[in-house]
Amino acid sequence: MSDAWRQRWQEGRIGFHRDAPHPALIEHWQALGSAPNAKVLVPLCGKSLDMRWLASQGHPVLGIEFVFEAVEAFLAASPAPVSRYVEPDFTIFRQGAVEVWHGDFFHLHLPQAAEIGAFYDRAALVALPTATRQRYAFHLAQLTPPGAKGLLVTLTHDQGDQGPPYSVDDAEVARLLAPNFRLEKLATSAPDERGRGESVWALERRGPRC
Ligand SMILES: C[S@@+](CC[C@H](N)C(=O)[O-])C[C@H]1O[C@@H](n2cnc3c(N)ncnc32)[C@H](O)[C@@H]1O
Repeated sequence: MSDAWRQRWQEGRIGFHRDAPHPALIEHWQALGSAPNAKVLVPLCGKSLDMRWLASQGHPVLGIEFVFEAVEAFLAASPAPVSRYVEPDFTIFRQGAVEVWHGDFFHLHLPQAAEIGAFYDRAALVALPTATRQRYAFHLAQLTPPGAKGLLVTLTHDQGDQGPPYSVDDAEVARLLAPNFRLEKLATSAPDERGRGESVWALERRGPRC
């Protein structure tokens, strides 16, 4: 799986990357009511500018990405100095308030994630095939403390099981996440020219940890 993603990054097939913070993040983040200094987990972060936006709002950010080209590209986009340190299974690059953990999201475990207080998923759940989405939802719940708030951006399309991005409908979001999170759907956009419609969800981790 990581080879396929590495190849995409090496070949520049990263149409998911946006050159500006996602509008749903800007529109809905503050209303979630996360503590202003909560550390935000950004699983499968790519080189997303959403991490810089979250940092600009005062949040420490912990992004996780297993393709090194993506991590390098994120760091290269800012002249700010980078420090590097090592944890089991991860090399961590800190630039300002953003830490990018180079490694596999599924290898991140408590207590490494002990300080996480919020989370943001855009194009992470929908990047994973069906069987892995169940694992992702459970892992996210394990890493987030009761009361943690998060924003989730999903998408649907009509190309069946083809992906990434995979089509994840409302029923699947509820099935995967409702056992451990309170869910509120905030917005749905009309399908674009490729037939892809996005939905934005507010999540709050129920307690206790699973
Ligand atoms: C569709 S992209 C989304 C990136 C980012 N969230 C954004 O909005 O631009 C998914 C990213 O997750 C990374 N990825 C996939 N599986 C991963 C895993 N298990 N651990 C860490 N990164 C992963 C891929 O390399 C890719 O950069």
